[in-house]
Amino acid sequence: MPDFEAHLAHRMRQLRPSTIREILKVTAQPEIISFAGGLPAPELFPLLDVGAAAQRVLSARGADALQYGPSEGFMPLREWIAAEMGGRGVLADAQDVLVTNGSQQVLDLVGKLFLNPGDVVLTENPTYLAAIQAFQTMEARFVPVPTDGDGLVPDWLPGLIAQHRPKFLYTIPNFQNPTGVTLAAHRRRELARIAGEHGLTIIEDDPYGKLRYSGVDIPPVKHWDEAGCVIYASTFSKTIAPGLRLGWVVAPRGLFSRLLILKQASDLHTSSFDQRVAFVYLTQSDHVAHIERIRRAYGERFGVMDAALREEMPTGYSWTHPEGGMFLWVTGPAELDSLELLSSAIKRQVAFVPGRDFFPGEGGTNFMRLNFSNSTPERIRDGVRRLGALCRCL
Ligand SMILES: Cc1ncc(COP(=O)(O)O)c(C=O)c1O
Repeated sequence: MPDFEAHLAHRMRQLRPSTIREILKVTAQPEIISFAGGLPAPELFPLLDVGAAAQRVLSARGADALQYGPSEGFMPLREWIAAEMGGRGVLADAQDVLVTNGSQQVLDLVGKLFLNPGDVVLTENPTYLAAIQAFQTMEARFVPVPTDGDGLVPDWLPGLIAQHRPKFLYTIPNFQNPTGVTLAAHRRRELARIAGEHGLTIIEDDPYGKLRYSGVDIPPVKHWDEAGCVIYASTFSKTIAPGLRLGWVVAPRGLFSRLLILKQASDLHTSSFDQRVAFVYLTQSDHVAHIERIRRAYGERFGVMDAALREEMPTGYSWTHPEGGMFLWVTGPAELDSLELLSSAIKRQVAFVPGRDFFPGEGGTNFMRLNFSNSTPERIRDGVRRLGALCRCL
């Protein structure tokens, strides 16, 4: 047997299994109330409509749907996405849209596109765990941008750019994962301006923008991107279903062909069948009403979790109040070790994600990410009661 360890690429030395994936294995047991995963509510999946769309695709264009397809994606779906981008305040042509296997693949592709070992990526602090993982695969170094309740603070950027010469800034402006925080409109405009002035590439990751349940929509950073600095990624994972693995990227013209080469090398193309099913679903079902149902349910679930936390958590704990998305972020007392708390919590059959792994640098032991989209209101109340009891005993 070969000495696999000795033969592994250098990049494997710094890669660790995702804590979330490990936790999810434990929390898959039905008796555990899990606030851990980033899972949408399965009872809200549009099962009947997607089933009807799949039937229609198979009976009308079955052979095409099961054949290889273009790497760019299924053109009618790209056109639909381009129109959708218009609704989000971004002028895009179907030719600018590359269909991907979820937005996670966009992170993989942009990592390959830009990063050599040791290159710097600017991120919010904390940031999305699997983005850290994707860029770590390319041996990136992370430099966090100071962040507050309105998202990252653009004033820091000129100094950080001068000092670290980053390859790009990765940001999640809407209902960020893990904090639920939204980047304020004036900061988005400022971010786009600074990026233009300093030649900074921005990766704007927007999986949650359509899931706003209070407040008013804010256009993406790309809306203000006159200089062509922003690569925008989004997904159908939260608005249709993540199992379809359908996302997209809108890239400035000069980069599209490069991304396309990487996409081809990676997997040739995203599933022809899934793309056609999604297209038929989007154009022949009431997708808008479906998103409205999701928004209402998540807004209600956030309200239930917020009220339960107010009732159950001892003093010294605070949490964010997101206006959309699927997560809130709890800050505990400085001495809290949320990883240790998790082992006691699992014994009481409730789970969350400890904050530590969302920080690309040091710190972060006294935070927890709680998901509110995947549990019913009853289970949210019950789970927060168990969590609160544990925190009161610390
Ligand atoms: C910020 C962020 N980016 C990307 C993704 C990946 O989503 P997808 O299912 O589209 O790959 C997620 C999933 O939770 C996410 O939270």
